[in-house]
Amino acid sequence: MAVLECETMNIVDVIRKKRDGGTLTREEIQYWISGTVSGAIPDYQVSALLMALFLRGMNDEEAATLTDVMAHSGSMFTPDDLGGYTVDKHSTGGVGDKTTLVLIPLLAAAGLKVGKLSGRALGHTGGTIDKLESIPGFHTNLERPRFLELVRKTGLALADHTADMVPADRILYELRDVTATVDSLPLIVASIMSKKIAGGAQAIVIDVKTGSGAFLPRLEDSRRLAQALVAIGSALGRKMAAVISDMSQPLGRTVGNALEVREAIDTLRGRGPDDLAALCCELGAELLVFSGKAEDRASAAAALGKLLENGAALAKFRELVAHQGGDVRVVDDPRLLPQAARRVEVRARSAGAVRRLDALSVGRAANLLGAGRTKKEDAIDPAVGVEIAKKIGDAVEKAETLAIVHVNDEANLAEALRMVESAYDLDSSGARHAPPPLIVERILGASQA
Ligand code: URA
Repeated sequence: MAVLECETMNIVDVIRKKRDGGTLTREEIQYWISGTVSGAIPDYQVSALLMALFLRGMNDEEAATLTDVMAHSGSMFTPDDLGGYTVDKHSTGGVGDKTTLVLIPLLAAAGLKVGKLSGRALGHTGGTIDKLESIPGFHTNLERPRFLELVRKTGLALADHTADMVPADRILYELRDVTATVDSLPLIVASIMSKKIAGGAQAIVIDVKTGSGAFLPRLEDSRRLAQALVAIGSALGRKMAAVISDMSQPLGRTVGNALEVREAIDTLRGRGPDDLAALCCELGAELLVFSGKAEDRASAAAALGKLLENGAALAKFRELVAHQGGDVRVVDDPRLLPQAARRVEVRARSAGAVRRLDALSVGRAANLLGAGRTKKEDAIDPAVGVEIAKKIGDAVEKAETLAIVHVNDEANLAEALRMVESAYDLDSSGARHAPPPLIVERILGASQA
């Protein structure tokens, strides 16, 4: 991004304007972002403006402008680069959330093109890149020409965010992290959507998680985030849908990188857990309808279900693994994935029905075992994690297995076991407990509603 020459503008005036509750113009936002990326505006002034934005907020137009300007702060993919119409999905992050591993080949099997840029695990939530890298040989650091070639020729590629795309987000995110300005709705929306816009897709579905394992656990916050993401993507000309989905308990039955790849492969064989398969079909259905490949969501979801059953989605996954250097034998024999040295069962202390299974505690336990990282530089252990035997609504006998912990380094094992056990709340009153609804709400862009 060229540094915006602006002799009449001064960053102190921009900070003061926002501090006093003013509305920033496109020129002011461009001046701020170009100065941030070039280094012309020092971190302390960028941080002061972030805090003013945090406290004063942004109106929809300002947030859309910030998103657009951030998206243009580095290199971008255009539909021409990608060989035409592409779709994308994003998840706000959860525990056991391996939907991308299933959904991306599923969409490609349905005839859509997907060039997906993903992130790594941070905090208690997992990251697609780490999961895929648990497949021996699989590489995600694709050079731009190779990434585009794969999308154009095979309809499918999945890579790590490159350093030259949306550099503004990287710089702002690092400053937000250390200035208590992460949890600002317009800043979150601009951060997420700028990366989606730079990725070049015309239709985007966002899986906004809600519940204890979500980034924003309260439904009203998840809803505001979903509405803002959809509004801004739509304002920037994308077809947008957001699905608010349950993250009060982990998705599927595994948490941990190789364990989740294994479960994704099972799901691509039509033998995965119902919630994971259903969520993938629901998210994919939005994109099939947007792309004119299906009349309505119900027929789209049914068509996607068939592609899971008949092996077409699995064949696309196999192609993805092969093209990105992974050991394809893993697809037929997931035992070739990294395996932990020991498995330790967590058993029920009494009989009952599972009333609660706290996703956050399970995510933290998996992290403690080494499945995630607390700092970007931390190494992860692909083999470790938690396998969930019982979920909300399941009946449990005394001493029956609730979960299995997969462990290598036992330094934190006792604490991880305690966390998994405390994630469960068993009700012995005889009352029945229904699992929480998987799809909580759906939000469409104004032109799609
Ligand atoms: N995810 C992002 O990419 N950015 C945020 O600000 C929060 C979550």
